[in-house]
Amino acid sequence: MDILSVIEHKKQNKSLTKEEIRFFVHGAADGSLPDYQLAALLMAIRLNGMDLDETACLTWEMAQSGAMLEPDVGGLPLDKHSTGGVGDTTTLVLAPLVAACGGKVLKMSGRGLGHTGGTVDKLESIEGMQVELAEDTFVSIVKEVGCCVVGQSKNLAPADKRLYALRDVTGTVDSVPLIASSILSKKFASGAKAIVLDVKVGSGALMPTLPDAMHLAQTMVEIGKRLNRPVSCVISGMEEPLGSHVGNALEVKEAIEILQGKVEGPLKDVALFLGSRMLMNAGLAKDGADGTAQMEKAICSGAGLKKFKEMIAAQGGNPKVCDDVSLLPAAPVICPVCATESGYLSKTDGVALGLAAQKMGAGRMKKDDVIDPAVGFVMHKRIGDLVKPGDVICTLHARDAASARQAEENIRSALTFSPAPVPAARLIYALVSEQGTENVNL
Ligand code: URA
Ligand code: CA
Repeated sequence: MDILSVIEHKKQNKSLTKEEIRFFVHGAADGSLPDYQLAALLMAIRLNGMDLDETACLTWEMAQSGAMLEPDVGGLPLDKHSTGGVGDTTTLVLAPLVAACGGKVLKMSGRGLGHTGGTVDKLESIEGMQVELAEDTFVSIVKEVGCCVVGQSKNLAPADKRLYALRDVTGTVDSVPLIASSILSKKFASGAKAIVLDVKVGSGALMPTLPDAMHLAQTMVEIGKRLNRPVSCVISGMEEPLGSHVGNALEVKEAIEILQGKVEGPLKDVALFLGSRMLMNAGLAKDGADGTAQMEKAICSGAGLKKFKEMIAAQGGNPKVCDDVSLLPAAPVICPVCATESGYLSKTDGVALGLAAQKMGAGRMKKDDVIDPAVGFVMHKRIGDLVKPGDVICTLHARDAASARQAEENIRSALTFSPAPVPAARLIYALVSEQGTENVNL
């Protein structure tokens, strides 16, 4: 086999064979193929696509390019992944709730880069919390507690690491087969046997339009089917931050308050929707309504909050934050952003809000930047809300006055007001699973 013939076949829009796919994935992982030939092949795939058999094969070969975990967690290892949102703390809400309902959640999460927050960064705002754990440690935490959230192991899917870095600089990120195989290969390598994916749609999302997002979702569900690991995809909007809190410690606080039963709203609704699908995939709920009801019960009884405490304690963190959120890092400058005119909030630029938080210090520009866990903001208005002069739109939590001023400017220019009423933004558009595609109006 030689790489030139593989490139030639894809250039001619032919389906690649298993052997051809295995050959270039191995060459990517072991370094035997140079960047320029891999980049040429990636562009041919980007332009001519891959059918479902090729995509499933690519996924499996990338998963097998490094360690394949087979964790014994005392049940089906469940995972959930989001294609990247702002103010999206669903993991911290649903992992303890799914665990309280009998699920085993082994969640490997990323760090934030650009405008999206990373779950492990959020957790690190809890004093003592360890997110880089040895495999036997996190497997035993999942077994005993029911959930554990850690950083991605370094040795999983090395072929994806190489190909993703090349895609990033060659204009080949926006390819459904390449995205689907990239996401799922890492999940399968980490041992997840049932996966719920939150596919974001909208400006700033990986998939800007609903048909594109549906296509990605249907592709991932089909791959799961072929590889015998059930995948369900929820298509959700990212017109505005999901939760009202944006920033690391602030998002942990919001998740705790939902688990305490004190806060309702879109973040809770979407977390319960995703969690109920995880319970269904694990055979622990008979339908979505049953799953949601079980999770509501786990909030009322305090069982979910108790699981979160157990998880934090097992990962070296201070579980007292669950009873006293003032133990989380707090910013020195807290000030309101008030409306100057009346109108309906009609448009929120989620990416710009994410970037505003990043500039305050909540996110990274480069991989090794140090983040400030305390800073960010709390939005008090959502799309469709009527605002009158003097109303507080948002509360800033800043490191200093200069950064608060800059954030205020950035947040104001991310919001559009209209004199006429506008409907609230859709949270969830559809659920795609092996049973088909179901419209959801949440
Ligand atoms: N996230 C991934 O892990 N891979 C992609 O290709 C896109 C988003
Ligand atoms: Ca199957």
